[in-house]
Amino acid sequence: MNDTILVTGGTGNLGSHVVTRLARQDCRVRVLSRRPPTDQGSPAVEWCTADLAIGDGIDSALDGVGTVIHCATDGRTRHGDVAATRNLLDAAGRAGGPHIVYVSIIGVDRHPLPYYRAKYDSERLLESSGLPYTILRAAQFHEMLHFALSRAARLPVVPVLAGTCFQSVDTAHVASRAVDLAVGMPRGRVADLPGPQTLTMAALARAYLRVSGARRPVLPVLLPGRVPRAYREGLHLASAPLPGSRTFEDFLATGPAVRVPAAARKRAP
Ligand SMILES: NC(=O)c1ccc[n+]([C@@H]2O[C@H](COP(=O)([O-])OP(=O)(O)OC[C@H]3O[C@@H](n4cnc5c(N)ncnc54)[C@H](OP(=O)(O)O)[C@@H]3O)[C@@H](O)[C@H]2O)c1
Repeated sequence: MNDTILVTGGTGNLGSHVVTRLARQDCRVRVLSRRPPTDQGSPAVEWCTADLAIGDGIDSALDGVGTVIHCATDGRTRHGDVAATRNLLDAAGRAGGPHIVYVSIIGVDRHPLPYYRAKYDSERLLESSGLPYTILRAAQFHEMLHFALSRAARLPVVPVLAGTCFQSVDTAHVASRAVDLAVGMPRGRVADLPGPQTLTMAALARAYLRVSGARRPVLPVLLPGRVPRAYREGLHLASAPLPGSRTFEDFLATGPAVRVPAAARKRAP
C-alpha cells in the first residue's frame, strides 16, 4: 500500500506542525523542500529535495506516496504558486493519483488580493485534475497578524486597516485538521476553518501592544483601493468564528518569534 504522506512545504510554518503531528501518529512522512536535509532532522522523517516551481525532483518525491499535504507556497510571485501546483498535480497524475490535501485561504474565490487569486487558481487546477482531493480553507494564521503588527509597532503610531476584522487561527490547529483530513477519505472542499474570535485589526494591535509592553497609540487608516475595501467588507472572513482553538492573545502569551510568512513577503494582510 502507498502509505507514505508527502508534505510539501514541510519546513514552513504550517508544514512543520503537520510533519510533527504525522510523526507523532507514526505515519510514514516525507518532507519536500528545495533545501538539502538538515542535520537536526528526525530519523522518522524522510527528506526529498525538489523544486515545485521549476519541476525538479517531484517524480522521485512522489514515489510510493498515497497522500500529499500541499503546504508549499511562495508569495513573491503572482503565478509562482499556480505553476508549482500544476507541476505537483502533473507529477501526481503520473504517480498513480495520490489523495491531495490542499490548504487554502477563506474567501479566495471573492477577494481580489493577487496572492489569494493565485490560491483560487490553484484550487481550480486541483478540482479539475481528476485526482482525489480535499481542500481546506483556513483563516489568516496568528503568525501573519503577529508579523504585520510587529512591523507596524516599530512606528511611533501604529497604523492599522480601518474597519477591518480578522478571525486569525492557531497554525497548530490548522495542521491538526489537515492531518485528520489526510488520513481520511478525499472530501472535496470541506468547511472553512476560522479562528475563535472576530476582532478588528485595532483590537489585535492593542492586544499586541499590551503583551509586548509597548505604549503606542493605534491609528486606523482608511486606505483607498479594492484590496483594502475587500478587507473592510470582510471577504476573507467565515460567516462566524469557530470556538475551540487558541486565541490571538493566548498565542501572544507564548512569546512567538517573528517569522515572515510567504504571503507577507511582499504584501501585508
Ligand atoms: N500564512 C497564513 O496566514 C495562511 C493562512 C491560511 C492558509 N495559508 C496557506 O497555508 C500554506 C502554508 O503557509 P505558511 O504560512 O505555513 O507558509 P511558509 O511558512 O511560508 O512555508 C512555505 C514553504 O513552501 C516551501 N516552498 C516555497 N517555494 C517552493 C518551491 N518552489 N518548491 C518547493 N517548496 C517550496 C518552502 O520550503 P523550502 O524553503 O524548504 O523549500 C516553505 O517551507 C500555504 O498554502 C498558505 O497559502 C496560510
